[in-house]
Amino acid sequence: MQAVILSGGFGTRMRPLTYTTPKPLLPLLNKPLIMHLIDSLPAEVEEVVLAANYKIEMLEEFFEDLDMDREVHVVDEPEPRGTGGAVKNVEEYIDDTFFVINSDVISSIDLKDYLEFYRKKEGVGAISAWEVEDPTAYGIMDPDEEQRIQRFQEKPKPEEAFSNLINAGHYILEREVLDKIPPRRKVSIEHEIFPKLLEDGLYSYQFSGYWIDCGTPTNFFEAHRTLLDVEDKKTVVDDRSWVDGELGDYVSVGMDCTIEDCEISNSILFDGVEIDEGAKIENSILGYDVIVEEGVKIKDSIVSDNVYLEKGEKIIKEDIKPEGVEDE
Ligand code: GDD
Ligand code: MG
Repeated sequence: MQAVILSGGFGTRMRPLTYTTPKPLLPLLNKPLIMHLIDSLPAEVEEVVLAANYKIEMLEEFFEDLDMDREVHVVDEPEPRGTGGAVKNVEEYIDDTFFVINSDVISSIDLKDYLEFYRKKEGVGAISAWEVEDPTAYGIMDPDEEQRIQRFQEKPKPEEAFSNLINAGHYILEREVLDKIPPRRKVSIEHEIFPKLLEDGLYSYQFSGYWIDCGTPTNFFEAHRTLLDVEDKKTVVDDRSWVDGELGDYVSVGMDCTIEDCEISNSILFDGVEIDEGAKIENSILGYDVIVEEGVKIKDSIVSDNVYLEKGEKIIKEDIKPEGVEDE
């Protein structure tokens, strides 16, 4: 069985980090976002197909170096084809019933249970479902008692929102669905394809626990805190790093970091970060190999890779871009 992971897009809302790292490789608890998804796939998924179009060589390199039982195909799109066009573009890799997963979602869904649920129904597909208060930023659906979806609408206006049950971004589809997606053009699976599948049987699978679309810094932090809570940990520090003193709550420290005695809370430090004594870091993300001198203060900020912050600097509510990137 194959799982297609929709990994395209520039991740604009996660800039400046995504200037240098594609969103699927951004680390949460020191593990790339995409590996959280891949590790949650049921055993019968033997092949992973990454439908990508941005920083594709970094994705290829990452999987080449990784020793994994599953085969991974990183497939480039000629140009961004949208969620449906991206699936159509990887058609040749699909044998039979398959998964499609949005790469920016972190959740507690049990994909094995979802597949078992789907196999008891007679339809052409299923959509995972999650309840929210305000569904306007999502796709919505209204399943009947048998969980068969009656209506599907993408990004409804408040007055059109007929349900609070949203598309949580994990699909199970039959191969025949690919015949309904027009080739070689941009297609939104949510706008164009799902409404057409209703008459053939599209089911919704609701789950509980947690669900976060982590495409924005606020949600990325929420995912960071949620995953730490789930693991019942306050901090995560890679074994190859050195930390003097005590870290505050909700901190992750990547590989090869050196952290002198300083104050850090609610922050994400990528690999290779060095922090001198007396620095104070709060609600911030520090990219790869950032160096922070003594007494520097960083709050509510994102600092991109390789930045050197000198003694006395204060970075408050600021996103520091990599060198050479101009303001837009
Ligand atoms: N390969 C490829 N090509 N991937 C794409 C493209 C593309 O052109 N466009 C989007 N994607 C990927 C994104 O990287 C993401 O993983 C997924 O498809 C969904 O796209 P988003 O841009 O994140 O959509 P959204 O968050 O506004 O809405 C979608 O997700 C919601 C749940 O998080 C929709 O599926 C909604 O219905 C859903 O509720
Ligand atoms: Mg999204």
